[in-house]
Amino acid sequence: MAGPLRVAALAALLAVPVRAPVPVPERRQEAAVRALARRLLGPRAASAVALSVDGRLAAGGPDAYRLLSPPGAAVAVAVTGSSGVAAAAGLYRYLRDFCGCHLSWAGAQLRLPEPLPRVPAEIRAATPNRYRYYQNVCTQSYSYAWWDWARWEREIDWMALSGINLALAFMGQELVWQRVYLSLGLNQSEIDAYFTGPAFLAWNRLGNLHGWAGPLPRSWHLKQLYLQYRVVERMRSLGMITVLPAFAGHVPQGVLRVFPRVNATRLGGWSHFNCTYSCPYLLDPEDPMFQVIGTLFLKELIKEFGTDHIYSADTFNEMSPLSSDPAYLSRVSNAVFRSMTGADPEALWLMQGWLFQHQPDFWQPAQVRALLHGVPLGRMIVLDLFAESKPVYPWTESFYGQPFIWCMLHNFGGNHGLFGTVESINRGPFEARRFPNSTMVGTGLAPEGIEQNDVVYELMNELGWRHEPLDLPSWVSRYAQRRYGAANAAASSAWRLLLRSAYNCTGVCVNHNHSPLVRRPSLHMDTQLWYNASDVYEAWRLLLSAGTALGSSLTYRYDLVDVTRQAVQQLVADYYLSIRGAFQSRALPELLTAGGVLVYDLLPELDSLLSSHRLFLLGRWLESARAAATSDREAELYEMNARNQLTLWGPSGNILDYANKQLGGLVLDYYGVRWSLFVSLLVESLNSGSPFHQEQFNQAVFQVERGFIYNKKRYPTAPVGDALEISRKLFLKYYPGAMKRSQAGPA
Ligand SMILES: *[C@@H]1O[C@H](CO)[C@@H](O)[C@H](O)[C@H]1NC(C)=O
Ligand SMILES: *[C@@H]1O[C@H](CO)[C@@H](O)[C@H](O)[C@H]1NC(C)=O
Ligand SMILES: *[C@@H]1O[C@H](CO)[C@@H](O)[C@H](O)[C@H]1NC(C)=O
Ligand SMILES: *[C@@H]1O[C@H](CO)[C@@H](O)[C@H](O)[C@H]1NC(C)=O
Ligand SMILES: *[C@@H]1O[C@H](CO)[C@@H](O)[C@H](O)[C@H]1NC(C)=O
Ligand SMILES: *[C@@H]1O[C@H](CO)[C@@H](O)[C@H](O)[C@H]1NC(C)=O
Repeated sequence: MAGPLRVAALAALLAVPVRAPVPVPERRQEAAVRALARRLLGPRAASAVALSVDGRLAAGGPDAYRLLSPPGAAVAVAVTGSSGVAAAAGLYRYLRDFCGCHLSWAGAQLRLPEPLPRVPAEIRAATPNRYRYYQNVCTQSYSYAWWDWARWEREIDWMALSGINLALAFMGQELVWQRVYLSLGLNQSEIDAYFTGPAFLAWNRLGNLHGWAGPLPRSWHLKQLYLQYRVVERMRSLGMITVLPAFAGHVPQGVLRVFPRVNATRLGGWSHFNCTYSCPYLLDPEDPMFQVIGTLFLKELIKEFGTDHIYSADTFNEMSPLSSDPAYLSRVSNAVFRSMTGADPEALWLMQGWLFQHQPDFWQPAQVRALLHGVPLGRMIVLDLFAESKPVYPWTESFYGQPFIWCMLHNFGGNHGLFGTVESINRGPFEARRFPNSTMVGTGLAPEGIEQNDVVYELMNELGWRHEPLDLPSWVSRYAQRRYGAANAAASSAWRLLLRSAYNCTGVCVNHNHSPLVRRPSLHMDTQLWYNASDVYEAWRLLLSAGTALGSSLTYRYDLVDVTRQAVQQLVADYYLSIRGAFQSRALPELLTAGGVLVYDLLPELDSLLSSHRLFLLGRWLESARAAATSDREAELYEMNARNQLTLWGPSGNILDYANKQLGGLVLDYYGVRWSLFVSLLVESLNSGSPFHQEQFNQAVFQVERGFIYNKKRYPTAPVGDALEISRKLFLKYYPGAMKRSQAGPA
C-alpha cells in the first residue's frame, strides 16, 4: 500500500487531464430505444413501431417527440424523439393514449390491440423544461440497496419511458473512495470503521453516519462496480444524463492521523445518533486537503466511469454548520465547487435543497444566499426537493438566481400507505415556472423509497411533459382502465374516491406513516387522518366488487391488497382507540375483546393478505439482501442490515420505525408481537391495579424488536393464498362496523 503522499506530490497527480466524453451518437440512442421496445413488447409488436432519434426535433430547446402513422407504411406508428429518452417517452405516449397500456412498479398492463392502432393525425409534444429528474440520495438505500442488474434494467426502462433524463448513478463510489484513502495512507481498519453497511450507505455519503452495520465486504465493492458500469452505460445509451457523486467535505477520522495538521472539525450528532456512529469530521474549506481529496476522488471516479459533468454533493444535510456566518457558508460551497472543477472544468453541482426547509431557523435568507452564491450563477442546480408541500423557491427569490428543479418528494422511508398531494403536484410546477424571474429548469421525482403509490408517480411523470394542469378525476378514471386493461365502472368509482380522499392531502402534508399499526404502541398515539375514512372503505367495497371481472389482472390484485391494507390500517386505529378507551375506563371485558380482535384476528389476517402478493413479502427484501452476499457471513450481515433498516433503524431504535413497511411476515412477527405485549401489559395493569408504565413497556418491547432482527427465521419469497378470497373474508367481518363508525364521525 502506498504510504502517505506529500501534498505537492498529490497536486502533480491532480494535473492529469480528464478525457471529455464523446456525446452519445443518435444511432446508438436509437439502437438503445429499439432494444427497450423489444424488451417491453416482444420482437413482433416492436417491429410494428418505427423508433428513431433526431436531435433536430428539439430545435435547440428541451426534448420533443413526434408520433405519426405514415400512410401505406408497414409500421403502425413512427415515433421520433430528439433523444433516446424522448423517443421512449413518445413510445409510452403511444402505448398509453392509443393502446390503453400502463407500466408501473406494481407491474405492466401491455395487452396490445390487434392490429396496432394508427395515429389519426401527427402528434408533436415538447417538454417545457430541460430536465426531468429522478431519485433521492436516500432511495439508494431504502430501495436499491440489494438490486441486481435485471432489476436495474427494468427500472431504467421505466425511467426512459417516463421521459426521465437526469438521474443519480451512485454505485461503486465506496470502491473509489477506498482507493483514494488507501493512496493517502489510511489503512484498511480505518476505512472499515468509516463505511456503514449497505442498507445505510446513503447516510454515510451524506456525512450523517459512519461505521454502523458495516464494514463493507470486498465482494460488495466489486459487485457495485460491475453494476455501476452497466447502469451508466445503459442510461447514457438512452441519452440520459448521469449524476456522479462528489466530495462534500466529510472525511474519515483516519485522515487526521495521516495528516496531523489538517484542519477538520467534528460536527454534532445526526438525528438520534451520538458520536459512536455519527459526528462527522468536516474539513475546513481553506484547508489544502479539501481540494486534494475532493479532486483526487472525482478524477479517479471519472477515470472509472466517464462523466456527463453533473455532480451531487450535500455538506449540511440535516447537519448544523459550524457557523452561520454567511462568509463561512460561501467558502464551504465554493470549496466544494472548486474541488469539482479541479477535476472537470465543466462541472455543474446538483444539490438537494432539503436542508433549507428542514432547518429554516438556521437557513435564513442571508445564509441561503451565501451558500448558493459561493458557486457561480448557473453552475449549480438545486433540487427543490419537497416542493409539493414546502417549496423553497418562493421565499428565496427562486434560489437567488441559481437554477432549480421542482421535485415531488412524496415518500419518506419507503413506507406503505396510500398518500398523495395531487392538487399540489397538478398546479405546483406551472406556478413555479410563472414565478417572477423563475429559474426553474425541470421537474422531478425525489421519493426516499419507491414501489408504492404508482398513481402519483405516473401523474407526476406525465406532468413533466405538460404545459398546463390536467383534469384529475377524468385522468384517474382513465388510469384505472389502463391499469387493469378493461373499463370497469366500479374500479373507476373506487379510484375517484381514492383520488378525493387519501390522494388529496392539502396543506403541509408529510407522508410518514404514523398509523398505530406500524408504530411502537403507547397510550398517546396519533390516529388523525387527512381524509374521510369511509372513502377508503367504500373504495375497498367497489374494488372487491370488480373482482370477478378483473381478478386475472396482476395490477388489480396489487391494488386490492393495497386498498385492503389501507382499510385494515384504519381499522387498527379504531381498535387501538377502543383498547385505550377500555383501559382508561377500567373496562376489562371491553379491553379483552378489542385487544383480542386486534392481536388474534385482524393482524394475522393482514399478514396473510400481504403474504398473498409477491410485492408485499418480507422474504423478498430479506432474500434479495442475502442474494447479494458471497458467503454465509456476508449474508448474515446483509440480512441484519435489511431487518434493522425496516425496524430499529440504528442499534437502539435511534430512528425507530422510520422506514416501516407493511409486509407479510413483518406484520405478524414484529408489529403483531409488539401489540400483543402492549395489550397483555394493559390487561395485567388492570388486573393488578398497578399503573401502566410506558418506560417499562418500552424496555420490554425493545427486546421484542431486537429479537426480530436476530430471529434467524427465513421468510417465503413466493406468495401463498388468494388475495381476493382473503380480502373478501376481511370485508365480510369488518366492513359493516367500519362503515358505521366512520359515518358516525370521530368519537
Ligand atoms: C491502522 O492504523 C491504526 C492507527 O495507527 C492502528 O491502530 C491499526 O492497527 C491499523 N490497522 C491496520 C490494519 O494496520
Ligand atoms: C452512544 O451510542 C452507542 C450505540 O447506540 C451506545 O452504545 C453508547 O452507550 C452511546 N454513548 C453515549 C455516551 O450515550
Ligand atoms: C479551522 O477550521 C475552522 C472551521 O472551519 C475555522 O474556524 C478555523 O479558523 C480554522 N483554523 C485554522 C488555523 O485555519
Ligand atoms: C426580476 O428581475 C429584474 C431584473 O433583474 C428585477 O428588476 C425585478 O425586480 C425582478 N423581479 C422580482 C419580482 O424579483
Ligand atoms: C381536494 O380537496 C380540495 C379541498 O380541500 C378540493 O377543492 C379539491 O377539489 C379536491 N380534489 C380532488 C381531486 O378531489
Ligand atoms: C364521511 O363520508 C361519509 C359518507 O360519504 C359521510 O356520511 C360522513 O359524514 C363523512 N364524514 C365526515 C367527517 O365528513
